[in-house]
Amino acid sequence: MIDFKKFEKYSKPGPRYTSYPTAPEFSDKFTQEDLIELYKNQDDNRNISLYLHLPFCRSACYFCGCNVIFTSKEDKKVRYIEYLKKELSILKKYLNTNRKVSQMHFGGGTPTYFSPEQMKEIISLLKQTFPNFSDDAEISCEVDPRFFTKEHMEVLKAGGFNRLSFGVQDLNDQVQKTIHRVQPYETTQNVMNIAREAGIKSINVDLIYGLPHQTAETFHETIKQVIKLNPDRLAVFNYAHVPWLMKTMRKFDESTFAPASQKLVILKDTIDFFTTNGYKMVGMDHFAKPEDELFKAIKKGELHRNFQGYTTKGGADLIGIGLTSIGNGIDYYAQNYKDLKSYEAALDEGKLPTFKGYKLSKDDEIRQFVIMELMSNFSLNIKRVENKFNIKFNEYFKEDLPLLQEFVEAELVSMDDEKIQVSPTGTMLIRNICMPFDAYLKKIPENKRRFSKTI
Ligand SMILES: C[S@@+](CC[C@H](N)C(=O)[O-])C[C@H]1O[C@@H](n2cnc3c(N)ncnc32)[C@H](O)[C@@H]1O
Ligand code: SF4
Repeated sequence: MIDFKKFEKYSKPGPRYTSYPTAPEFSDKFTQEDLIELYKNQDDNRNISLYLHLPFCRSACYFCGCNVIFTSKEDKKVRYIEYLKKELSILKKYLNTNRKVSQMHFGGGTPTYFSPEQMKEIISLLKQTFPNFSDDAEISCEVDPRFFTKEHMEVLKAGGFNRLSFGVQDLNDQVQKTIHRVQPYETTQNVMNIAREAGIKSINVDLIYGLPHQTAETFHETIKQVIKLNPDRLAVFNYAHVPWLMKTMRKFDESTFAPASQKLVILKDTIDFFTTNGYKMVGMDHFAKPEDELFKAIKKGELHRNFQGYTTKGGADLIGIGLTSIGNGIDYYAQNYKDLKSYEAALDEGKLPTFKGYKLSKDDEIRQFVIMELMSNFSLNIKRVENKFNIKFNEYFKEDLPLLQEFVEAELVSMDDEKIQVSPTGTMLIRNICMPFDAYLKKIPENKRRFSKTI
């Protein structure tokens, strides 16, 4: 039995590294003109990966950290589609939209809070703007099972969607009531049946550990129930508690949260449970069946991390569409406005709704590569970094490597001239293990770091 008590000291604020540099580094000095210039110089042979943000939800789940607008008003959705049309037509002026699209993801909010007819319209708008989807494109949508009908499924199927991700979070009654998301098991079972009958081969389920009132016992019950649904993939997220950003999180009584050592017990139990029941661990919070492409990608060292978690499709330029969406090319990040008013105002002026962004320096690119490799594959081929960037690793990171030493001494990481390898227990602390390579984090004193806790 691992003594998790001694790991409590690692429970500190730290990035989840869905990007590097992380979003707080994005700056409004990066403008639509910068983005237009970058689009102009993009390689037409690189694939496009599309992310569309559909921000509306009917009611607030108190744990939610996503960019959401709560509404019951139909006209808001109609208006949003009108502005998406504007955004796509402006985008078309600056980006070669005839490039191959290898991936498209609808995220939210609750995309299926739009009616089936509205979703049909949105899909056809995107397909008109981007006419060249590759035959094996991954097309996915986040689905709240409480807002999903057979008619939605038909529209998604006709639109070529081949992956669905269902939000479940937790099945315990008390937890569900406290997080303000009551979703009976049967609701999830029902929508999974609809998806399977429609021939969807890749179904993901999202769970969260660290929610109020969860214990190792209650969460074990949840995962035992969930595995009966036989999902192809699972994401088991660590609850990111950021009450200074998200008002609804302030409703929680923090004394009902499991302490860090208990959260590690829950995580370890989850890993043991899924890995002894036919799944493999992928990255820091995903599980997939061994025949799943995600797992095959790890074996080839080709797993990539992006804003949606993990993907096998690297080498594409991510184009973010809609409110708050983030795009990402080889050397930049670009984020759209986060409030509707500014988003609409930019589009009314015929501009791209670029709010902030970041142009990566050479140092950023090197550190991004190192952090993303560790986050995805839990190991780093040092020679590969040296050859790719023409550096001497030990020399380049001479100020950072001493910070990795405490993890080496705790046997969470091993390192020689060829390789950094994270141990199985170390994978649970992967965010901490990446932090020594983050040049920006070092500039912020520990007590001023505004990130969710790593454990
Ligand atoms: C944008 S939601 C989309 C899914 C859909 N709206 C639903 O709730 O079913 C994507 C996922 O993010 C995860 N999530 C949201 N807030 C989180 C938080 N504060 N910490 C960790 N995971 C979170 C949840 O697991 C959720 O299913
Ligand atoms: S978890 Fe999903 S349904 Fe709940 S508020 Fe967040 S985006 Fe909306």
